[in-house]
Amino acid sequence: MKVGILGATGYTGQELLRLLNNHPEAEIVYLGSSSSAGKDIAAVYPHLSGCGYVLEDECIPDLDVLFVALPHGIAAARVEPLLKRGIKVIDLGADFRLRDSLEYEKWYKVKHANPGIISEAVYGLPELYRDQIYGKSLVANPGCYPTASLLALVPLLEEGLLQKQTIVIDAKSGVSGAGRGVNQALHFSEVNENFKAYGVAEHRHTPEIEQQLTFAAKNKVHVSFVPHLVPMTRGILATIYAQVAEGLGTEGQKEKILRECLKEAYQQEQFVHLLPEGVWPQTKYCYGSNHAFLQLKYDERTGRVIIVSAIDNLVKGASGQAVQNMNIIMGLPEGMGLAARGMWP
Ligand SMILES: NC(=O)c1ccc[n+]([C@@H]2O[C@H](COP(=O)([O-])OP(=O)(O)OC[C@H]3O[C@@H](n4cnc5c(N)ncnc54)[C@H](OP(=O)(O)O)[C@@H]3O)[C@@H](O)[C@H]2O)c1
Repeated sequence: MKVGILGATGYTGQELLRLLNNHPEAEIVYLGSSSSAGKDIAAVYPHLSGCGYVLEDECIPDLDVLFVALPHGIAAARVEPLLKRGIKVIDLGADFRLRDSLEYEKWYKVKHANPGIISEAVYGLPELYRDQIYGKSLVANPGCYPTASLLALVPLLEEGLLQKQTIVIDAKSGVSGAGRGVNQALHFSEVNENFKAYGVAEHRHTPEIEQQLTFAAKNKVHVSFVPHLVPMTRGILATIYAQVAEGLGTEGQKEKILRECLKEAYQQEQFVHLLPEGVWPQTKYCYGSNHAFLQLKYDERTGRVIIVSAIDNLVKGASGQAVQNMNIIMGLPEGMGLAARGMWP
């Protein structure tokens, strides 16, 4: 299977390269770069020394699958001819995640270059939408905060176990979530020994989370979503609060019902795990791996359930999930090339 990566020098691009380099069915034949064409990848990322890959310009050869790991706005303009050439495209950016192009334009502040093609894309969160992904040619790989949030919330909303307008998502991310580009707010001295909220009630992942929760609840859902920047390289920890549905069993039964719902949703899954009672997710559980970890507790004093969800933003939140999606659309075992365990410490 011939695969390529556009944006290979970015953080998600190099993570794709790390994963695909060990994938038994993938042959990396193209690494596109607008800034480093002609250089060996090791000149940009020395830890990839010996792979022997040379970065090329953005002239894309014939491929089975192309991963687009570029800033939003570029994929929408470029994808149609690629699909016509029979290349399957997995976009790690946001161009095909929102079904409504006007919502995209409102939140991303750019004109969508090809609104007509959005309906061809599938939202690629395998544990929730696996059946829809199989056989598709265009995959919108979910955002990192949405992945952590939706894994925790969708099964509970589908079962009507939460009051849908009471959801609060308090999420924290490592700095790699912002990509490799230079930005003053991300300098070491700004981030180190610091902890701050950003994008409060206006982060671009809000409409993506709300869109998928609305599908799950079959009714419009709004959430309070507050992301935070944590002085660490990788990882997302989302702490989620919601009032449980009225009439949900007796006091003693509520936590059991909520737990059973997530347990049933993920007990067959290889990458999403509801931890044993009392064990709370940590970002290091997922560091460098495609695993996601969940835990919940019902607080009977407030009537709220508190759910904690942890992923690695660059793996389950981006490149690992993209490889999982590739495996599904190409009819391969879903975990192929993703078995490598994470790193600790
Ligand atoms: N970082 C995460 O945790 C994460 C998680 C989920 C999704 N995503 C999404 O994945 C995509 C890639 O993210 P990333 O974190 O890998 O970004 P990044 O580190 O900033 O890399 C993006 C790459 O795109 C290329 N590029 C081409 N045109 C560009 C332009 N006009 N401006 C800037 N870069 C340009 C650059 O590579 P060349 O110079 O070699 O062309 C750059 O290295 C984004 O859409 C992002 O939202 C990121």
